[in-house]
This record gives sequence, structure tokens and C-alpha cells, in this order.
Amino acid sequence: MSGFGNEFATEALAGALPRGRNSPQRCPFGLYAEQFSGTAFTAPRAANRRSWLYRIRPAVTHRPFHPFEHRYLPQPADDRSASPNQLRWDPLPLPGEPTDFVEGLIPMAGTGGPDTHLGCALYLFGANRSMRRRFFYDADGELLIVPQQGTLIIDTELGRLRVGPQEIAVIPRGLRFRVDLPDAAARGYICENFGAPFKLPDLGPIGANGLANARDFLVPRARYEDLDEDCELVAKFAGSLWVAGMDHSPLDVVAWHGNNVPYQYDLRRFNTLGSVSFDHPDPSIFLVLHSPSDTAGTSNIDFVIFPPRWLVMQNTFRPPWFHRNVANEFMGLICGVYDAKSSGFLPGGCSLHNCMSGHGPDAATFAKAVAADTSVPVHITDTMAFMFESRSVLKPSRCALQGIPRLQEDYMSHWLGLEKHFDPTRP
Ligand SMILES: [Fe+2]
Repeated sequence: MSGFGNEFATEALAGALPRGRNSPQRCPFGLYAEQFSGTAFTAPRAANRRSWLYRIRPAVTHRPFHPFEHRYLPQPADDRSASPNQLRWDPLPLPGEPTDFVEGLIPMAGTGGPDTHLGCALYLFGANRSMRRRFFYDADGELLIVPQQGTLIIDTELGRLRVGPQEIAVIPRGLRFRVDLPDAAARGYICENFGAPFKLPDLGPIGANGLANARDFLVPRARYEDLDEDCELVAKFAGSLWVAGMDHSPLDVVAWHGNNVPYQYDLRRFNTLGSVSFDHPDPSIFLVLHSPSDTAGTSNIDFVIFPPRWLVMQNTFRPPWFHRNVANEFMGLICGVYDAKSSGFLPGGCSLHNCMSGHGPDAATFAKAVAADTSVPVHITDTMAFMFESRSVLKPSRCALQGIPRLQEDYMSHWLGLEKHFDPTRP
């Protein structure tokens, strides 16, 4: 199904969706009705998200939770240390040991938390094993998953998403899912959003079309498994991981309707807009989704991409300019080369530039850009970089600072070649 922010209705078994009421006295086929809310009951209609699930057993049918052992989680907030230093990491090596999606989570940076419903936590993941009978949900936040290598088959309570590099998947807070790997291995990035759910931005003077178009967001059809076998339900709750046994698969929703849904989007569908005269728009022109805050125009998190595009601006420094700002920027590279970095920013790698820390193109990119002939257009192709941008300082995790993955100690040297060109006698 396609659409975004709408009311969807789907049934994997004809007649399973009750007609006319959400919770009839007896549901068709002996199913249970269960409401799955992603916002407060009383959230305004335009922001309200909830779905009704018609399932074989209600979500409560599991054994008690106990702590789940994980190499890097929980990551206590006081283990994070804020740094004004510009940081960059090599790509995460694929795991050597059998590792599934949950086991392969590596916390990289974060701010805020589930207690305040503000901020985000950013992760890398690397996995080489399907989750099989293990299922996961995140009570703390919504998950925006950015695969960088390999395909993920994400079976959720509401149906199947299948995403590969240059696509994203968004899993609502609390939705149960399993990640299987059709390829030998997969890795990528995750933003755990503690704030308001991601939504499409308003377009202002751009008009009714452009950037990410609503019709390109795909929502799954109902799909269930009637599996009476031992399963494991892992929960992220208040920063820690827990696990409970189940005697059946939680993916037993036969029909559902509502708007609190997982969805996927192909970043190559993004309608990239830019200047056709001179200068650049601000990078907010590349905004795909944002989690709004209580302050107008200031997001809790922005998800921004840097896709292939034409650069036609004349007498203009065409790469992203040097800048400092109030945002805190965590970048990743899905494929190709990012046009502000000539080397060192690798597919699968990441960087962190916190607020008011200067950054911008490296010395080699600067030298090339100021010598370029801007009377001719340039087509940037075969690239896809992205940014998670937060209003609050992103604090790197302990494992990120300890070099998992490797922290590039020479990152600052890429700017050291920016020499003094000032000559007051040469306008
Ligand atoms: Fe920046």
C-alpha cells in the first residue's frame, strides 16, 4: 500500500477486519482486538497515531521479562561525554561471530532519552545472522533504519518491509519485529527517536510537490504467522534490554487498520531541489523527515540526505560551505563520495560535528572548488550521504570513543591544508 499519514486498512484473511466498529463483542475468526497507540489518546487529530490490530493472541501473552545480556547496552547517559571536537569513524567491520540485528547494535552517540521524550540515540549495526525466533521492540523510541550494505527483511506485526541500501525503514515505537538477512551480512545506521514521530516537513513556498513525496512511502499489507513454537521477545525499555519467552510468534496480526504504521521509502525517489542561479539554499532543502519539537521551526531531529544532483550555480562555491550552527550533526555515507570530502569519509563510516564546531569541505575539495569553471553544470552521481541532525548536543558513547569502530585520529589534518590566501593588495 502506498501513502503517508493516512488511515490504512488491510486483512490477510478475507473478512478478518471487523466492519463498522473497532472492538466488536466477538471478532471474526476468533481474533482478539488490540489498540496500538503511538501518541497520547488526546493528541490533536493531525498528530494522532493509532492502529487497531486483530490478532491470534493479544500482546500480553508472554512470560516475564528478565535482563538481556548485550555487549554494549545499556549505555548509561553518564557514559557519554560531550566533545566540541570534530570526530570521524571508519566503517564498522562486519562481525566475525554469528550476530543478529539486536546483538549487532553499537551505540554511537545520543542526547536526551525516553524519560523526557526528547532527543535520540544513534547506532550502527552489523549482522550476519537472521533473528529467526527472536523478536524485538523498542519501548523507548521510534527506529529509523538506514541500511548501508545488504538487504533487511523486516517482518513486523503489521507486515513485511524489505529494504536495502538507499532505502530506509521506520518502525513505530513499540512495534514488534524480526530482521532476517537474505544476504550473507548487513550493516547500517539507526536513529532511535525519543521525540515526536517522524513526519514529512511542510513545504512552504516550494508548493505542493517536491522533496520526499507522500505517495512514495510504502506501508505493508497484513501478514501473519500462526506459529506455536518457543520464541524470544527482546524489549528495549528505559535504556536497557530485556527478554521474555513466548510460546508463539508475536507476528500474529491477521488484519489491521490505522495510521500508526511502519513504512519504507526509497531515497532515490527524493525530488532534489536547489538553486538555479547562485549560492546554495540551506541544507534544510534536503530534509526527508523530521521529528518536530515544541519550538516552531526547530526539530527534535532532522533526517537529511545528500543525493545525486546537478550543480548549476554560477560564480558560486559549489560544495557545502564552511559553517557553524546550532545543530548537532551526525553524518553517514551509504555509497559513493560525499562532495565536501575528498577522502576519509567512507561508505559505512560516520562523523560527528557538534554545535558551533566549525566544519566544511576539506582542503583538497576547497582547492578544486575555487578553481572550477562554474559556467558549466556539474552532475554529482552515484552518491548518497545522510545526516541525523539534533537540536541538542550529541554525546559520543563510550564504545565510540574507545574506537568501536575505529576513531580517525587524523581527521583534523584534512583541514590543515586550508592555507592563508589573504592579500589586502589583491581584491
Ligand atoms: Fe554541517
